[in-house]
Amino acid sequence: MRLTVQPGGFEGGRARVPGDKSIAHRWLILAATADGRSELRRLPAALDVKATARALARILPPTIGSPLEGWASNPAPAGDGDRSTRNDPEPRAAAHAGSAAAVEIEGGGRGVLRPADGPLECGNSGTTMRLLCGLLASTSFATVLQGDASLSSRPMERVATPLRAMGARIQTERGHAPVTVRGGGLRGVDHHTEVPSAQVKSAVLLAGLAADGETRVTEDAATRDHTERALSSLGAPIRRERGTVSVRAFQHPGFEAEVPGDLSSAAFLVVAAAITGRPLVVEGLGLNPTRTRYLEVLERMGLRTRRETLDVELGEPVGLLEVEPCDGLSGTVVDASELPLVIDEVPVLAFAAAHATGVTRFEGAGDLRQKESDRLGGLAEAIRSLGGSAAVEGEDLWVAGEGLHGGTADARGDHRMAMAIAVASIAARSPTTIDGVDVADTSFPGFVPTFVSLGARFEV
Ligand code: S3P
Repeated sequence: MRLTVQPGGFEGGRARVPGDKSIAHRWLILAATADGRSELRRLPAALDVKATARALARILPPTIGSPLEGWASNPAPAGDGDRSTRNDPEPRAAAHAGSAAAVEIEGGGRGVLRPADGPLECGNSGTTMRLLCGLLASTSFATVLQGDASLSSRPMERVATPLRAMGARIQTERGHAPVTVRGGGLRGVDHHTEVPSAQVKSAVLLAGLAADGETRVTEDAATRDHTERALSSLGAPIRRERGTVSVRAFQHPGFEAEVPGDLSSAAFLVVAAAITGRPLVVEGLGLNPTRTRYLEVLERMGLRTRRETLDVELGEPVGLLEVEPCDGLSGTVVDASELPLVIDEVPVLAFAAAHATGVTRFEGAGDLRQKESDRLGGLAEAIRSLGGSAAVEGEDLWVAGEGLHGGTADARGDHRMAMAIAVASIAARSPTTIDGVDVADTSFPGFVPTFVSLGARFEV
């Protein structure tokens, strides 16, 4: 799908975003392996999340897995609200953009996991592949996990290494997918992540739930903590001390929860508001402090925001975010210790920086080369192709705020790149054309209609 963005039009206002992708992966895995009934509401119909639901369905007995497969095959369309998916599906009243979802699962514990009849397809989703490696590390059978070309080029040894140390047999193709996991009797491990990664931390913690003794993960910089919060809410013996999290064997019970709105998806709305000077309110939004750091970066750049927590879902704060009309952004520095907490927002922050005054630097951003595309090189190139000024120096990206002319830009099949380019183009001087914007569905189903409903002139 080709998207043409005409400058201007964005009015701001009130909005909701689909449920959080990171949280949805984790809660699906936990619900699928719980001992007892779970109900998940507001699951986002994001392609990545569907990949996790489908993969889980294939390693569960059909009576447990079919609601997952049913939801993944037939979620309500974006904005059409939530429909219950269970053995006797009944439509329900509903309400959340891009989210299909009440899925009910009668879990039988981890012990009911069984071999799939072929490779599990993880699509474009690194979180699906890495978290499932952690889950499968304790099973007594072999499972192959595969993905698309982008996922097959991403590093898998970072998750294979600690799981091997715990006793699982893991085979990669020279460090990449397909990955074969032959689980086994696991023992606890003390793992220091080579690069800060919530996916690796979560995979090791999931394996730790089935390991003898204590499993510890230490990180040099903080990463998102959704796995820890969910496990702690479910009563798991999990402890957190500064940079280390530890867990012991535990079978969690079923649970009911509503997935909060995705802060990373909201970042596209927030930046659109910031660069156009419009006010914005996002409701029903996850406000986990390990995900709000991009707001602090934008605040340093001159934006004023207000957050209010109104609820807590499985340990996750949920509430509203208000963005005040902004009269201009200025450049800032995002250093290496802060970077893992804004890892998914760097694309849209870099494009915000292109509309700021002065220079913005993202330091120690090398891991961006390992994302759905090489986001480090891709960002500098995309900003330059729209008439801005940006470059990569070693592991750093700098962006000079000169505004953007518009033109055509290549998103390299990367959902967050495509959405960041589209949003930045709202404030460009002339129209911008982006090919392949359908990839937004990877994380933000309903991206285009959400922006159109707020006045953006997005033409497909
Ligand atoms: C994620 C962790 C991050 C992030 C990804 C989602 C997660 O990846 O970029 O989009 O849900 O745990 P890394 O763990 O590779 O940094």
